[in-house]
Amino acid sequence: MKIKKIAVLTSGGDAPGMNAAIRAVVRACTYYEIACYGVFRGFEGLIDGDVKEMGPRDVKYIISKGGTILKSARSDEFMTAEGRKKAYETIKSHQIDALIIIGGDGSFTGGMIFSKEFNIPVIGIPGTIDNDIYGTSHTVGYDTALNTVIDAVDKIRDTATSHKRIFFVEVMGRDAGFIALNSGIGAGAEEILIPEENIGLPKLLEKLKRSKSSGKSSCIVIVAEGEKSGRNVYELSDYVEEHLPEYDVRVSVIGHIQRGGSPSCFDRVLASRSGVAAVEALLKGEENVMIGLQNDLMAYTPLEKAVKGEAKIDDELIRISDILSI
Ligand code: F6P
Repeated sequence: MKIKKIAVLTSGGDAPGMNAAIRAVVRACTYYEIACYGVFRGFEGLIDGDVKEMGPRDVKYIISKGGTILKSARSDEFMTAEGRKKAYETIKSHQIDALIIIGGDGSFTGGMIFSKEFNIPVIGIPGTIDNDIYGTSHTVGYDTALNTVIDAVDKIRDTATSHKRIFFVEVMGRDAGFIALNSGIGAGAEEILIPEENIGLPKLLEKLKRSKSSGKSSCIVIVAEGEKSGRNVYELSDYVEEHLPEYDVRVSVIGHIQRGGSPSCFDRVLASRSGVAAVEALLKGEENVMIGLQNDLMAYTPLEKAVKGEAKIDDELIRISDILSI
């Protein structure tokens, strides 16, 4: 089928660089003489017919902006057959031939079901700060989030060292430790607690004691929000304070600051490459694949594999962190 019109949407949690990806999709469409529709509020907008044809000037100056000009949503209605049927009405009435989804694995799952039901080619661009998607070394937004975290932790370190404190710093990453592990190494954290590895509370105490006896007077412990000990960051801090009363302990939850802000150069370039690759994939007749970065090249992974596969933490980084936190 010759592709004449495509639609692009952002779905799930916003991530810095989504706008750069939208810009790249819209402009690549113009370059290849394809009409491009922007869909507002993710699948919700597709259901409600909230779409607008976009040209290259509609995406001017957005490469440097965080968030998504198309807005985003997590749509419950799209999870129902009824909702998807309504969404298909929008596709049909605008004669849209294919859909590009910028989002995470929940969004890709929705897109895949939709594609199978209505025979609409779907291409995914991984956009999430969590980096928890199989088939790409980096998701759009992850690098910016890492830079935000290390900037915050560097500042927290100033107080930690000035007051001889232990800081428990919670970072985002739902069920994945990518942000925690990489920002932890980047910020020189003494401990990093991630969902993929349960070091256990006694070992944590032992490591904190070891830090103190090796001459450290302050500590930064990075805790991924999905950490495995079953305790949240406040409970962890209380536990340490109770068992090591000589320590002055504080908690800092970085929160949604990690989701916002102007994207890093890395994310802008990744998003630009991914947007062009997504349009070119459709022109080559690809369907139901995700565009990813593998060995610095744009690669396709079947959406089904991207959704089912597990993005694995690099054990080597855990080892590096152990060596360097001595
Ligand atoms: O998936 C991105 C993410 O920021 C996670 O790291 C976090 O757990 C979640 O979204 C928070 O989602 P929200 O605040 O949008 O419900």
